[in-house]
Amino acid sequence: MKTTKKMPSQSEAQTGLGGKAEKTVYVGMSADLIHPGHLNIIREASQHGRVIVGLLTDGAIASYKRLPYMPLEQRKLIVENIKNVSEVVLQETLDYVPNLRRLRPDFVVHGDDWRTGVQREIRDRVIETLKEWGGQLIEPQYTQGISSTQLNNSLKEIGTTPGIRLKMLRRLLAVKDQIRVIEAHSGLTGLIAEKTQAKVGNETREFDALWLSSLTDSTAKGRPDNGSVDLTSRLTTLNNILEITTKPIFFDGDSGGVPEHFAIMVKTLERMGISAVIIEDKVGLKENSLLETNGSQQQDTILGFCKKIQHGKRAQVTDDFMVIARIESLILGAGMSDALQRAEAYIAAGADGIMIHSKQKNPDEVLSFCREYASFSRRVPLVVVPSTYSQVHEKDLAAAGVRIVIYANQLLRSAYPAMVRTAESILHHGRALECEKECLSIREILRLIPGGE
Ligand code: SPV
Ligand code: MG
Repeated sequence: MKTTKKMPSQSEAQTGLGGKAEKTVYVGMSADLIHPGHLNIIREASQHGRVIVGLLTDGAIASYKRLPYMPLEQRKLIVENIKNVSEVVLQETLDYVPNLRRLRPDFVVHGDDWRTGVQREIRDRVIETLKEWGGQLIEPQYTQGISSTQLNNSLKEIGTTPGIRLKMLRRLLAVKDQIRVIEAHSGLTGLIAEKTQAKVGNETREFDALWLSSLTDSTAKGRPDNGSVDLTSRLTTLNNILEITTKPIFFDGDSGGVPEHFAIMVKTLERMGISAVIIEDKVGLKENSLLETNGSQQQDTILGFCKKIQHGKRAQVTDDFMVIARIESLILGAGMSDALQRAEAYIAAGADGIMIHSKQKNPDEVLSFCREYASFSRRVPLVVVPSTYSQVHEKDLAAAGVRIVIYANQLLRSAYPAMVRTAESILHHGRALECEKECLSIREILRLIPGGE
């Protein structure tokens, strides 16, 4: 918590040189993308006393927006070395109150931009709390013309590197209770997964990561989801998505093939900056798990699948890549105790995560798996794919211990009916005017992809 900077001791700070208590000023910030606006606030703060920066932790930032580009240690190092900063403390929550009560600063300084919008409530709480000891809020005018949002968009356009992207999933798991993932099967859907945001209360929600689904990738290529789209073709889709996104990616590796081939798949994916592969414990001609009857689908033996997991784990180069084992026992009618036995065995074999799949119309069997899983002495992050039981809320899954929720096919499933309606409308009317209301404007489509204008 303490800085490496030279600063007056607590008693010196209290008395100052002239024997008068030096005032303290608290400034909360994320300081991920430092810009002149931040320096302006700190300069202003220093005119009122000794500046203590409350640096938001990765978890505090991720609780209301994306994970910061720079991890806490790097951001702390930068802020500690900004002129006029006397001390850096960690702010573990978005809410200032715990730190304010502990430090009882004379002033809080924040740009006036938080008077409106999602931060308003936080501001109100700061004002209320400062009243407890007669503290005061100072709000310098927000620096126009530059913002973290702008810088963030520019950074997204620059892109990322495979190494940074690969590590991001473990970083997210370290600070977020739950990770929200959506499928992408093309550059365009990748862009939607990358950019879509929704404001919900104080939080700007977005997807944390992308799922490269075999179902939607195959369907978009007009092929059945039975392994007929080979890895080379899957990697072409993946490359299109990598080009235009920066978020971490889960690759749906089907069964991973034979252990020797799975080892090669792991190396290829890791080299490309993919964070995790999920492989399912099935053998023989692959069938999609959501088919009403999975008549001819065979489940692998526990031993056979453990061997495959071990082959994959031995093949990876970094410690960051994750091999996640997907259990099909509930899909194939092998029952709960088989699913639990497999989970234990796969974890012992080195799996970095467990995905429990279900095609029930309600979440009951998944939730009862979660209850049993919670009592395991050795656990890894739990993944679910609520496609058939879509009524379940993320928060209920989180309460049951689910760390990763994958929305595995919704973008493709929603696009298809819209496209069919459009095609029918053109046929029906003999012109395209009537379908225009459902379409992106020409202007918008030209602007959609960076560099298009
Ligand atoms: C996929 O999205 O391809 C999956 C999930 O593997 S499921 O379709 O439910 O099998
Ligand atoms: Mg699949």
